[in-house]
Amino acid sequence: MSVPRPLRLTVNGRAYDVVVPPHHTLLSVLRDRLSLTGAKLVCDRGECGACTVLLTGPTGTPEPVYACLTLAVACEGLGVTTVEGLAGEDGTLHPLQEAFVRHDAVQCGFCTPGQLMAGAALLARTTAPSDAEIAAAMSGNLCRCGTYPKIVEAIRSAGAAIAAHNATAHNATALEEERRGG
Ligand code: FES
Ligand code: FES
Repeated sequence: MSVPRPLRLTVNGRAYDVVVPPHHTLLSVLRDRLSLTGAKLVCDRGECGACTVLLTGPTGTPEPVYACLTLAVACEGLGVTTVEGLAGEDGTLHPLQEAFVRHDAVQCGFCTPGQLMAGAALLARTTAPSDAEIAAAMSGNLCRCGTYPKIVEAIRSAGAAIAAHNATAHNATALEEERRGG
């Protein structure tokens, strides 16, 4: 018999205390216990990517995982990010969310949360991914509506926007340091 055990999960920067059996998946806990239904339950066996969320460990690099194949108890001590946590606290969309809208990369939208999370993880590693890097990063996320070309366009566009934003922030910091030094 699986004995439920207490578990503290940190999801989108907020701590949740739950008591769950050790065989329950992260996806079931997110959806059924925490009412975070952005990650979708579709195949429930690691084939479609609709349940993709990010796990961040000590390295600080967010890694996409299938929440339907991840045990909730394995996530203790890690940061979990779901699509609900992708936008800023003030509601400002993540650049990739904006780009999905701008490039019309959404049809029925059922795969979209997973696509966004996989794409966001890629852009956290590089803002100028190659074709091969995009193909590899997105290969675990299926879209039955066939929006793949627009998803790729959106990833490229969001990467450019993030890079431009980072460059502006870097220049502003350099100017401020120069001003203080002078
Ligand atoms: Fe998890 Fe399909 S629901 S991969
Ligand atoms: Fe419909 Fe991807 S937009 S499954």
